[in-house]
Parts: sequence; structure tokens; C-alpha cells
Amino acid sequence: TREAALARIAAAQDLDALEALRIEFLGKQGSISGLLKTLGTMSPEERQSVGPQIHALREGVTDALASRKAALEAAVLEARLANETVDLTLPAPEAPRGSVHPVSQVMDELAEIFADLGFAVATGPEIEDDWHNFTALNIPESHPARAMHDTFYFPDKDAEGRAMLLRTHTSPVQIRAMIEQGAPIRIIAPGRVYRSDSDATHTPMFHQVEGMVIDRGIHLGHLKWTLETFLKAFFERDDIVLRLRPSYFPFTEPSVEVDVGFALVGGRRVLGGSGDAPGHGWMELLGSGMMNRKVIAAGGLDPDEWQGFAFGVGVDRLAMLKYGMDDLRAFFDGDARWLSHYGFNP
Ligand code: PHE
Repeated sequence: TREAALARIAAAQDLDALEALRIEFLGKQGSISGLLKTLGTMSPEERQSVGPQIHALREGVTDALASRKAALEAAVLEARLANETVDLTLPAPEAPRGSVHPVSQVMDELAEIFADLGFAVATGPEIEDDWHNFTALNIPESHPARAMHDTFYFPDKDAEGRAMLLRTHTSPVQIRAMIEQGAPIRIIAPGRVYRSDSDATHTPMFHQVEGMVIDRGIHLGHLKWTLETFLKAFFERDDIVLRLRPSYFPFTEPSVEVDVGFALVGGRRVLGGSGDAPGHGWMELLGSGMMNRKVIAAGGLDPDEWQGFAFGVGVDRLAMLKYGMDDLRAFFDGDARWLSHYGFNP
């Protein structure tokens, strides 16, 4: 009967059971299909009265199958959603996190400080030729400064016959920037440099930041103000005092060595104040000077029109001073315990 069929459909527990019922009622051999076939053997009067009932039965069963199917499918989806729920309040598993190396940290800080002063970041290759690293910087072939640099040379020359080497300082970026950009220029150039040298305060690879300004009418006062402003911002102290000492670099004229005043506090050097005060001293910090006319000319610029200053400072040295680290070699050991000791790990 119709009631029995509808009751069985409503009671079907899953989609497979429902499909079995559909075949039982509506399949080729199904009971309702069988009823439909009998219509052909009936007289027209009989068909008139029984036909609509059979069709209504088929429609009723078809509708019941469809709605039960929708209900079962919705239940399956519901169950899956309940199963796959992610509990966002569960604590995540603890994974060790990396941190920024102090050298990268300092380079980022320098880039930020100098960006505020209008300096862009420039780069050059670590594998240099001796023209950019030496000759263009007024260090000719026989110059004793070449020997002083403890240079790593490659066995072969480049296509233009220039000796290839690992750059001994970031100063070749001065030459590259002038040739590439022309004047005026305001850049810093952070990067790796190499010298065959190794003890507690020297590693064969270390980091420098070069600074260079070229414009009209640049003089030593601009250099001093720039260094003072940068060091006060970097060490976050207003009482940084600099002492400019005459020095010599082939690529600057005049050349100035810059010392910074420190106080001895509990045996430790703390930057700030004049180095001439009692209990204070001067610490050598960086090399700098007004750019040599020959170097400006080597960069393709007219030294009668353009003047400039340049400085070079050790990044590792700056990091040691700022964060109170005492062994340069530890910078390159990759020891996470050392990093976390200085607060560079979360
Ligand atoms: N290149 C020099 C060095 O490595 C530093 C320096 C840079 C000095 C620029 C003057 C001007 O020691």
C-alpha cells in the first residue's frame, strides 16, 4: 500500500537503503512499474478510474524518495562538518623560532637611520677586480696599502685582464655608484668584506658599511654632522662625543680617523661623554675623509664641480659595542645559545 511504502521510505537509515527502495518501487522490475504496465491491458473505463491513482502513487513515492534523500545527504554533511571542526582555542605545539642575527639587525638599523637622512642603499659584488678595489681608489699596483690589505686573490684574471679578488673593503662601491648613478649621490653600502687575518678581533670575513655623499660644496662639516647624527641615533644617546684625528687613506684627502668618547663603568666601556674627562677614554671607531679628487675623477665626475665625503665602519664592531659582545668569532659560529644569551632569541 501507499502508506506502507511511504513509511518504509521515511524509515530508510542511509542512502544505500534508500536506493534499494527506489529500485524496489520504481526500477524496471519495480512494483509500481509493474502496476503501470497493467494499464495497457485495461479497458478505457478501467484505465480512467485506476490510472490517476497509479500515477498519484508513483508521484507520491518519487517525492518521498527525493525528500528523504535530501534529508539523508544533509545529515551526512552535518556529521562531516561536526567531525572536521578545528578547535582554535587549542594551544599550538611549541616550535623553536629563529631570530635576526645581530649583524643583520645592525645593518637594518643603519639602513633605517640613513634613510631618514636621505641615503639610499647601494651594493657591489664581493668578488671584485683590482681596478675597483684598489686602482680607482688611488691605490696603484706598487702601493704599500695593497700589501696591508691581506688580500685573497683568485688564480685567474678576468676577461679584461684584471686580477680578481675578494673585496677587502666596501669602498669599491663608491666607484660603482659614481659610474652607475652620476652625481649628486647619497648612499650607504653594507656588505661582506674579506682579509686573510684571524684572531679574537679579526675574522677572514667581516662586515662594513660604506657611506658616501657627493654634491656641490660638500665639506668636512657635513661629514662630522652626518657621523654625529648617525652615531647618536644608533647608540640611542645624545651625549656621544666624537674626536676627529688626521689620518691617511689613499682615497680620501684629508683623511680623518674618528674616535668616540667612552666612560669606564665597572670595567666596561660605555660610550658617551668626552674621552678627555677623568675616568674616560677615546676609542677608534671608523675611517673617513673628504673624497680624493683622483677618486671622483675615476668615478667619471669632474672634481672641480663635485665634492664628497666617505666613511667606512665595521658593522660587527658596531654590534659588539651596542650589544656588549666581546668575541668577534662567536658572530660566525652559528651557535643559537650565544644568540639567546644576548637576547636575540625569543
Ligand atoms: N675602506 C677603509 C677601510 O676599510 C675605510 C674608509 C672608507 C676610509 C671610506 C675612508 C673612507 O679601512
